[in-house]
Amino acid sequence: MHSFQELTKLFAQHFSGKHFPESPASLYEPGEYFLSLGGKRVRPVMCLMGNELFEDIHPDSYHVATAIELFHNFTLVHDDIMDAAPLRRGLPTVHARNGESTAILVGDVMLIRAYEHLNKIQPTFLPRILHLFNHTAKEVCEGQQMDMDFEKANSVSLEAYIEMITLKTSVLLAASLKMGAILGGAGEGNRMHLYEFGKNLGIAFQIQDDYLDAFGDPQKFGKEVGGDIRQNKKTFLMLHALEVASDTQKKSLQELMNTQADDKVKQVLSIFRACGVDQWAIDLKQTYYKKALQHLENIAVVSSRKEPLHELAAFLLEREH
Ligand code: IPE
Ligand code: IPE
Ligand code: MG
Ligand code: MG
Ligand code: MG
Repeated sequence: MHSFQELTKLFAQHFSGKHFPESPASLYEPGEYFLSLGGKRVRPVMCLMGNELFEDIHPDSYHVATAIELFHNFTLVHDDIMDAAPLRRGLPTVHARNGESTAILVGDVMLIRAYEHLNKIQPTFLPRILHLFNHTAKEVCEGQQMDMDFEKANSVSLEAYIEMITLKTSVLLAASLKMGAILGGAGEGNRMHLYEFGKNLGIAFQIQDDYLDAFGDPQKFGKEVGGDIRQNKKTFLMLHALEVASDTQKKSLQELMNTQADDKVKQVLSIFRACGVDQWAIDLKQTYYKKALQHLENIAVVSSRKEPLHELAAFLLEREH
């Protein structure tokens, strides 16, 4: 058994080094650049944890973990184009640094590398892993499209927002755990509870991401604070503000969403604060955290084996970046 920290180190060792050939450098240097920025690497670690919850780490888990991290990085490179984001992990995004066309290709080639790693796993596991991987990848696309559709929508329900973040973010965390569990030989009930743990944790994780996007410390966050506001994202912060605001505040929010004024972010944030959406966010996050923990309870293994998952959950929800 390894702690969360030990697994993070093990994966970092496995993932370090070059992922692409030298030439053409105009494509592969930006790819290496982006991967070298690191990130928290929680999804591959979740794959290893999902495995180790049940059995010693199977060598295939490293292939799957690597594929997951490459897939995640692919989604980020493309997401930053969609969100017109200038910063990621404290440094310029690929499209800002190397142009949009290159960023599209960098993402594409990362996705293809992901499948090359998946293709290394044992034939007995491959069909089940591939099915879950592909199913999840399509869900991420669906969530990303909903996220953009909501930018233009006037009203979005909290339920639709939760569905959107489930698809764009939480299913990948859930599937990472479940792929590990498959490789660890877990039974169906345990796999299901582990997936649901990951799904609810992932919802709380995206709520935290949306919270930090508005209220985070720019020195720590690594991304542009206020980017979601600039892009008119229908985060639960905006949805809740639109619900509880006075008529005047509501009118201001609607007007602000139709402008690109220099002080747009500042003004929206001051309405957010006046409406108390920050506290509401923390409560909503806690609700999903609790749901996640109930599913973790229901997994039939001795509780000491669950310790790394508790550590991970606490880390994800207290994070500032
Ligand atoms: C960012 O994911 C995208 C979201 C789903 C919020 P992470 O916060 O895991 O990004 P890195 O890999 O650590 O940079
Ligand atoms: C991203 O959601 C989800 C995916 C990349 C699939 P966000 O757009 O909120 O993620 P960040 O904030 O850019 O990391
Ligand atoms: Mg984004
Ligand atoms: Mg996005
Ligand atoms: Mg975000």
